[in-house]
Amino acid sequence: MNFQTLFDLKGKVALITGASKGIGEAAALFLAQAGAKVVVSSRKIDAVKAVAEKINQSGGEAYAIACNVGDMEDARKLVSDTIAHFGTIDIIINNAATNPVFGPVHDTSEEAFDKIMAVNVKGPFEIAKAAYPTLKAKKSGSIINISSVGGISPEHGLGIYSMSKAALISLSKVLAKEWGDDNIRVNTICPGLIKTKFSEALWTNDKVMQMMMKALPIKRIGTPEEVAALCLYLAADASAYSTGAVFTADGGFTI
Ligand SMILES: NC(=O)c1ccc[n+]([C@@H]2O[C@H](COP(=O)([O-])OP(=O)(O)OC[C@H]3O[C@@H](n4cnc5c(N)ncnc54)[C@H](OP(=O)(O)O)[C@@H]3O)[C@@H](O)[C@H]2O)c1
Repeated sequence: MNFQTLFDLKGKVALITGASKGIGEAAALFLAQAGAKVVVSSRKIDAVKAVAEKINQSGGEAYAIACNVGDMEDARKLVSDTIAHFGTIDIIINNAATNPVFGPVHDTSEEAFDKIMAVNVKGPFEIAKAAYPTLKAKKSGSIINISSVGGISPEHGLGIYSMSKAALISLSKVLAKEWGDDNIRVNTICPGLIKTKFSEALWTNDKVMQMMMKALPIKRIGTPEEVAALCLYLAADASAYSTGAVFTADGGFTI
């Protein structure tokens, strides 16, 4: 077998949430380049249509669907619309997330808690469940959940977000155990600080950056492509013997 076969996604259908920009967009581009048909999704249809157009114009195949993954009906419909459009589903990257609050847990409202848990945990759970009958029938599937280094060790000011990301790691391990027999793999990626809109408040803050540069073995922040490359590996047969695993792309932050 040659190594390119192990990364070949021809004939596969991938669904990527939060794919209008950042890590999700980079993952959609890489998976499409590897031959997968991709559904790019986020709340804003114009933004995902632009990404789908970029992929289609460069010889790939993409379809845009708007979905708020914090709305469970919308999340389940995202999977059925993906299957209706491309005929099946093989790969899911649960990448969309939210963090509407920064500060101590005692100042976090019930409403913020519910929103974080709905988008970061319940949505991925419903999406995985909605895809399960198809993946089980195929005896094949790869689900990749994008967590955070905060899910391994909680970050100051990001308490409930960190808790939601820890729950996502646990959900991945639970599904990996329950669905391993169906040859459905479920893995987690924990990015460190990556230069995207999501983390802009951190990488534009000189104090935070000075602290980060002291703590980080690799003295820079990461790029979306450095996480997307791991997504490609976990989507493909190259990672066929990995499930329930937690992979970091964090410049050594968690050492
Ligand atoms: N950047 C970092 O430093 C970092 C570190 C650790 C973990 N992560 C994780 O990496 C993932 C991607 O983040 P990113 O940095 O690439 O962020 P980003 O560039 O800001 O992109 C976030 C994406 O999620 C979509 N989105 C937000 N809320 C959504 C919702 N309720 N339903 C559906 N889509 C939604 C956004 O599009 P719309 O606005 O159109 O919906 C966008 O496409 C997240 O899970 C995040 O927690 C990031």
